[in-house]
Amino acid sequence: MYRVGIITSSDKGSRGEREDKGGPKIREIVENFPEDFEVAEYVILPDERDQLSAMMVKMADEQHLDLVVTTGGTGFSKRDVTPEATLDVVERRTPGIAEAMRSISLEITMRAMLSRAESGIRGDTLIVNLPGSPKAIEEVLGPILPSLKHGLDILQGRDAECARK
Ligand code: MTE
Repeated sequence: MYRVGIITSSDKGSRGEREDKGGPKIREIVENFPEDFEVAEYVILPDERDQLSAMMVKMADEQHLDLVVTTGGTGFSKRDVTPEATLDVVERRTPGIAEAMRSISLEITMRAMLSRAESGIRGDTLIVNLPGSPKAIEEVLGPILPSLKHGLDILQGRDAECARK
């Protein structure tokens, strides 16, 4: 069972001025995979690079969460800094995950090209950025979660084999 941390990056959400819909949507989808994943932590932070990266480090190094999923802050607004916060703390990038999300999403909307989402590995933890809209989360998270599980199996030495699926 892999433990998941959810970070919503939203200035308005963190001030309580807007209901966060992204975090609960991630929780709902993760809970569709009850044999493999459970949500252990969920926080809402402002779009502040240092706060976001510090929370990623805490979830990875102190809480030993296996998967950290962020939502929001991947677009072109000047306040969108989640990808930069992620690159500040990952040791190895995993570009295929963001490429897969954009590939799935481009079938639905050309605006998917505007998500600057990143992902990468810190220690035994995989960190993945998702866009902010619940619609986008719905479209991409379910399809990629089985492969994220396989990646974690390999990262943490539970599975040495990469049998094709
Ligand atoms: N991906 C999917 N699957 N579906 C979407 O509707 N919206 C896009 C993109 N990715 C979208 C998507 C849009 S309009 C933007 S601006 C970017 O995600 C960035 O969103 P964010 O700033 O909320 O992270």
